[in-house]
Amino acid sequence: MQAKIKALREQVESTIGSVHTKEELSAFWQQFLSKKGSIQDLMKGLGSVSAEERPTIGKLINEFKNEVNAKYEALAAKLEELELESRNKSEQVDITLPSKKISKGSLHPITITKDLMCDVFSGMGFEIYEGPEIEDDDHNFTRLNVAKNHPARDMQDTFYVAEDILLRTHTSPGQIRVMDSKKPPIKVLVPGRVFRSDSDATHSPMFHQLEGLVVDKKITLCDLQGLLDQFVKKIFGDGVKTRLRPSFFPFTEPSVEVDVSCFECGGKGCSLCKGTGWIEVLGGGIVHHKVLENCGIDPEEYSGLAFGIGIERIAMLKYGINNIGLLYENDLRFLKQFKD
Ligand code: PHE
Repeated sequence: MQAKIKALREQVESTIGSVHTKEELSAFWQQFLSKKGSIQDLMKGLGSVSAEERPTIGKLINEFKNEVNAKYEALAAKLEELELESRNKSEQVDITLPSKKISKGSLHPITITKDLMCDVFSGMGFEIYEGPEIEDDDHNFTRLNVAKNHPARDMQDTFYVAEDILLRTHTSPGQIRVMDSKKPPIKVLVPGRVFRSDSDATHSPMFHQLEGLVVDKKITLCDLQGLLDQFVKKIFGDGVKTRLRPSFFPFTEPSVEVDVSCFECGGKGCSLCKGTGWIEVLGGGIVHHKVLENCGIDPEEYSGLAFGIGIERIAMLKYGINNIGLLYENDLRFLKQFKD
């Protein structure tokens, strides 16, 4: 029996030397330590050992089993360690390598222009108000002194949502909403999206306007010119001048079209100003007394000025954009040019 143990011990020694993987380790366990393994076979052989020798031999086999078990455990721990080591090695990252470039977003040129315009007027004490894009006929037209069937409605091709409900054609209904909710003195801006059935290189069915409204005692056209003069200088540079031309809007009287002297040629005449030296930038005027009355403001006591500026128009002039479509296509090659 002792010779058998010795032979098995030698076999264990030589087998364990060639165990390098988990699979080989498990085969080793099967061969020697499992219920069907060689050590268990030795145990089974105890029956044929004489009664006197049995306790000693039994003890020897047990010791041998513990010894092989300890070897097995030690090797299992070592293999585990080696595997972890090689995994760490293969998964190593070089933290000094440059990282992937994450491209940063930027503001849309319309937003940049709108913010710039709002900043200029905020500096003059204007507050910002935003009205709804879906309006009723009353706010968009009637109370702005554009009665039903008034030919001036044709000036703005309107998208109707339902009877008397429409997509606002301008930000001027914001004037009515502000005057309904606030008593003079009033000094507000209404920026926002507006909609007209119109589309070509300089017109889009959806575009943006910035409305301005001032209502106070003794407001005159001079105040309007003063404000707008400051505005265009801040946007196009100190060298530019403004010019007011008579115009017509049902909600202002008198009404004006405001031109800025051409910042490209300095007024000599070029392709941008079509040889005239002047570029039209916005419409405005003195708030019609009927509009004030429609909002419960006494035109004998108060007067107001109002203006509406196309934000796309200012952006296109400022950045030299010749097609309005570029502003809505979301082409990154175009948009990236406005990164600061
Ligand atoms: N609402 C006018 C338009 O869209 C512009 C405007 C605003 C004119 C305020 C006068 C006063 O054309």
